[in-house]
Amino acid sequence: MSELNSFVVKNARLILADRMIECGYVAVENGVIAEIGEGAGPGQGFDLGGDLLLPGLVELHTDHLEAHVMPRPKVYWDVVAAVVSYDAQIATSGITTVLDSLRVWRDEIAEDAGCQAAEFADAIDHARRNSLLRIDHFIHLRCEVPTAGVVEDTAALIGRPEVRLLSLMDHTPGQRQFRDPVKLRDYYRGKSGGMTDAQLDALFERRLENHAQYSAENYGGLVDLAARHRAPLASHDDTTAQHVQDAIRDQVAVAEFPTTMEAAIALHEAGIKVMMGAPNLVRGGSHSGNIATGDLAHTGALDVLSSDYVPSSLLLAALRLPDLVDNYDLPAAIRTVSKTPAEVIGLNDRGEIAVGKRADLILVHRAGDAAAVRSVWSGGRRVA
Ligand SMILES: [Fe+2]
Repeated sequence: MSELNSFVVKNARLILADRMIECGYVAVENGVIAEIGEGAGPGQGFDLGGDLLLPGLVELHTDHLEAHVMPRPKVYWDVVAAVVSYDAQIATSGITTVLDSLRVWRDEIAEDAGCQAAEFADAIDHARRNSLLRIDHFIHLRCEVPTAGVVEDTAALIGRPEVRLLSLMDHTPGQRQFRDPVKLRDYYRGKSGGMTDAQLDALFERRLENHAQYSAENYGGLVDLAARHRAPLASHDDTTAQHVQDAIRDQVAVAEFPTTMEAAIALHEAGIKVMMGAPNLVRGGSHSGNIATGDLAHTGALDVLSSDYVPSSLLLAALRLPDLVDNYDLPAAIRTVSKTPAEVIGLNDRGEIAVGKRADLILVHRAGDAAAVRSVWSGGRRVA
């Protein structure tokens, strides 16, 4: 692919971090934004036809690689090939920085494509070293606290330089996301190709035993590990006042998918960034029966959106947010998918269209409620 790291684009609606320029230009030099302005701008430049120019989106939590590794139940694809096709899908969804969220979880469900964090991390690294990737990839280790070996498995991975976030999860029946165990039962029935009630009973019993045996010790071990490696921490599915207190005590940077309004607002007021699902906003509610992203946005406590399991939902949700909720204009909505998530993980070189930032840019054409990503630049290189 030819490098094109210095160029000018013009005749676009620019979405800056705090305002819009209805017709402007951006000049890029050596992969960095050198100049922004209104009107036609310097030199020739590519005419963007009045479409929207946004900062490349920053995604902190997507487990979508798993869908490329296991495209059908129990059918596994070559992992490097899966990484390459996943990267292309993420890039054309408008995302230029992604935290590939890898489960550190020795799961009991054999056909599940997670629980191979080291293998996935190696494949991503191989793809990066061989120039097979379009965008910037980092790693988010999703640690299931009440599981055997999670501290050791995390310790083996956390030294990798690409690890940027560590989340503390607990999907025990009756806890957090699945405090209604019937929802967990439905989730596994759909996901695992139909487990019988007897199999689910046995699984749930084991999960409850594991919770009693491992939770307290592993939680402390993981928090210590993150502190030693200066990895930002994420809490996950916070539900109760105790969860909020734990997150504050452990200096959590971002709270993923709080399940109750009380927890979400308390986390936000404590300065912890609150992340909610973009699919939840687009669909109009949570698939687990928890709070709706739109309802939380009305309180102003929504800080970050995540595409979670549908990559294209990130852009779609951010573009729709101002139409659904009065207190977010378009720049504020785009901040939830660019500047704020970048800041959460300490990537201050990107996340907004501003002089001196990386030229991570996406060109978006809107047609009513729908939108398409027309072009993507990563560090000034056109990648889609
Ligand atoms: Fe969860």
